[in-house]
Amino acid sequence: MTKSERFATLTVDGKSHDLPILTGTVGPEVIDVGALYKLTGKFTYDPGFTSTAACFSDITFIDGDKGELLYRGYPIDQLAEKSHYLEVCYLLLYGELPTAAQLEDFEMRVTRHTMLHEQMVNFYRGFRRDAHPMAVVCGVVGAMSAFYHDSTDINDAWQREVATVRLIAKLPTICAWAYKYSIGQPFIYPRNDLDYATNFLHMCFATPCETYVVDPILSRAMDRIFTLHADHEQNASTSTVRLAGSSQANPFACIAAGVACLWGPAHGGANQACLEMLREIGTPDRIPEYIARAKDKNDPFRLMGFGHRVYKNFDPRAKVMKESADEVLGLLGVKDNPALQVAKELEKIALEDEYFISKKLYPNVDFYSGVILDAMGFPTAMFTPIFALARTVGWIAQWKEMIEDPVQKIGRPRQLYTGATPRNYTEVEAR
Ligand code: CMC
Repeated sequence: MTKSERFATLTVDGKSHDLPILTGTVGPEVIDVGALYKLTGKFTYDPGFTSTAACFSDITFIDGDKGELLYRGYPIDQLAEKSHYLEVCYLLLYGELPTAAQLEDFEMRVTRHTMLHEQMVNFYRGFRRDAHPMAVVCGVVGAMSAFYHDSTDINDAWQREVATVRLIAKLPTICAWAYKYSIGQPFIYPRNDLDYATNFLHMCFATPCETYVVDPILSRAMDRIFTLHADHEQNASTSTVRLAGSSQANPFACIAAGVACLWGPAHGGANQACLEMLREIGTPDRIPEYIARAKDKNDPFRLMGFGHRVYKNFDPRAKVMKESADEVLGLLGVKDNPALQVAKELEKIALEDEYFISKKLYPNVDFYSGVILDAMGFPTAMFTPIFALARTVGWIAQWKEMIEDPVQKIGRPRQLYTGATPRNYTEVEAR
């Protein structure tokens, strides 16, 4: 960040104030309003933070107009094609692509932390079998702070590192076990001879009764889903993790907060909601009815998997995901998948529709990921936990960046109070 010599001048009640303009490496400049209250006695108001930068960050860059997403400067489509998830994790966490030796060491550390404390099995058993797996994942991640005391001191760089590796390593086990618990099957323990995505699929779909071999095309597709979801700048769940972390809460508590925020259908829950919508539409001839509902101001219905706060051209992740969907469905021989047929037709119709064009509503990453996960055999309730698994590295990279930032302060927004003015308490008889 450079402090430019330029200033924005704000005139309030006849008095002018110069506010510094800050410049990053790419992307819009920001006006530093940190001193505004001191200077004017006034706050800024920006619901949804549509014009507010809450931090400096070196990790991820999005250009919503160009449809560009960069992890540490590298375009997402290059990473999805040439890299793999654990290499991307290294990149997000440490800022550079690893050498062969660094990658081997990182993979070894992650692989050696995949088991859960055996006592956690009892913790799972406390949940109802019909609990949503996001409820289980949120609870178990939060409970990690009760099991791994030796990595909760945020002021110790080594403990932060151990917590980082533990979270990335254990999330697949936590999510797979949430799934196994929901279907009443025995937990499958992690296998250190398998790569990250293959191990996850194995823990989800193997049983102790027979050998289960994961198809490498499905592993690759799973790995790509992880890569595409690994980080996404200051989205709602990442901002939640940063806000929770700003109070110096331990990393497991912060990531559990991120999981909770991700669950909502406007954010990570959209992949589940999108596939359920595609199934509800059922056949392409019913699409016009749903398009009409999406446009109707009096109907709260929205086309799930469409629209994004930042992308106003296209979502680069959706492009890669669409190719993956074709590959996976081709492999599984499900060319006639009704959800995919509806998805393709819906995309076509919506992209030609004036309402969607004028509001710049394009398919987002969740539009195709659900179709892939469904074809792999995951129930819709597992879609959002898989998103949480993949996003954990982004959350932890952003959390570490915040903790290591010397200007970090507790996050504490202010408000425009619109409630009652001071008044005296009235006894109940007099009300
Ligand atoms: N279907 C129909 N209309 C929509 C949709 C949609 N999916 N999304 C936005 N609009 C309309 C909205 O009604 C509004 O119209 P108007 O200006 O006439 O009031 C306009 O477009 C702008 O919408 P907004 O809600 O102000 O935009 P936002 O930036 O606050 O919301 C969003 C972004 C992603 C929450 C929203 O587009 C949405 O609800 N999409 C469906 C849910 C979804 O797919 N979410 C996943 C996002 S990508 C993965 C992730 O980040 O987790």
